[in-house]
Amino acid sequence: MLSRESRAAELSKGLGPGTVVRLTEPLARHTTLRVGGPADIYVEPASEADLRAVLKFCGEFDLPWFLLGRGSNVLARDGGFRGVVICLAHSHFATLQVEGEQLCCGAGLRLKTVAVEARRHSLAGFEFLEGIPGTVGGALRMNAGAMGAAIFDLVTSIKCMESDGSIRKFSRPQLEVQYRSCSSLKTRIALDARFRGDKGQVSEITRRMQDFSRKRWQSQPAAPSAGCIFKNLPTIPAGKLVDELGLKGTRVGGAVVSPEHGNFIVNDGTATAAEILALIEVIRGRALAERGLNLETEVEIIGD
Ligand code: EPU
Repeated sequence: MLSRESRAAELSKGLGPGTVVRLTEPLARHTTLRVGGPADIYVEPASEADLRAVLKFCGEFDLPWFLLGRGSNVLARDGGFRGVVICLAHSHFATLQVEGEQLCCGAGLRLKTVAVEARRHSLAGFEFLEGIPGTVGGALRMNAGAMGAAIFDLVTSIKCMESDGSIRKFSRPQLEVQYRSCSSLKTRIALDARFRGDKGQVSEITRRMQDFSRKRWQSQPAAPSAGCIFKNLPTIPAGKLVDELGLKGTRVGGAVVSPEHGNFIVNDGTATAAEILALIEVIRGRALAERGLNLETEVEIIGD
């Protein structure tokens, strides 16, 4: 059995010079909640060929892999991740092309950049992406949304890499999409996506972006968080429920239910993942006991 070090050395040998490979990389550095133990191996591939080589390596050694975007919707446990965490942070995956009313965006591109570039090209419909702290790839996987819109409202097609390294293109109707999830992207990696907007007035687009930003700053906390922790229920928004249960400000160690918005758990700078998970259970327990409601987490929980 190869050690972690020799496995990583074996992997690095076959990769290009721009690709980053690190051992025991703390996931707290890569998640907006600022918690999470080490990933055995952490890779930022610099090309599709290197991404393919990483997936092949995982297949050969039967190692689990996890694709990390900006880490804004991930709760990584304190024990870390036994396998390979892949992040498309290299500029190779941050491409952007504009063709008429369509934008073709690399998976590593920040959503804010997509919104700003769309406005520069007088394309409306992307304004809600402005304040979502994620990447295109992460937003696709989670069908991220805000202000009554979701990213799959804009998608026309996605180019993906399968876990065997092959490339496949999907048109929108071929993809399984749910509220806050795209199950088709559970086992494959989005490389880029085409979005369709509508021709609009730059001044009008700017006004909408400013309105959204104002609304967000008024209702959501600035402290480190993973955005909304729970999915909304069909009968009540999760934040409203937590608020009605009187749980705002409830604390487990350094994890606190945001006093600003009930569906946010913030890290006061000292929280562990275990404390955040314990606070999630406190909230779920109260929602079930007092209202008979089953809150489901929206954040993706990974690791040991
Ligand atoms: N509310 C309360 N108390 C609270 C929080 C909310 O009474 O503490 C009430 C609000 O007054 C409002 C309703 O609950 O009447 C809904 O609240 P809000 O408008 O803040 O929207 P949300 O449903 O809580 C959703 C998304 C957010 C997104 C906002 C803005 C989900 C789970 N959350 O929040 O997305 O930013 O809309 O449009 O769908 C995320 O997904 O991580 C996220 C932050």
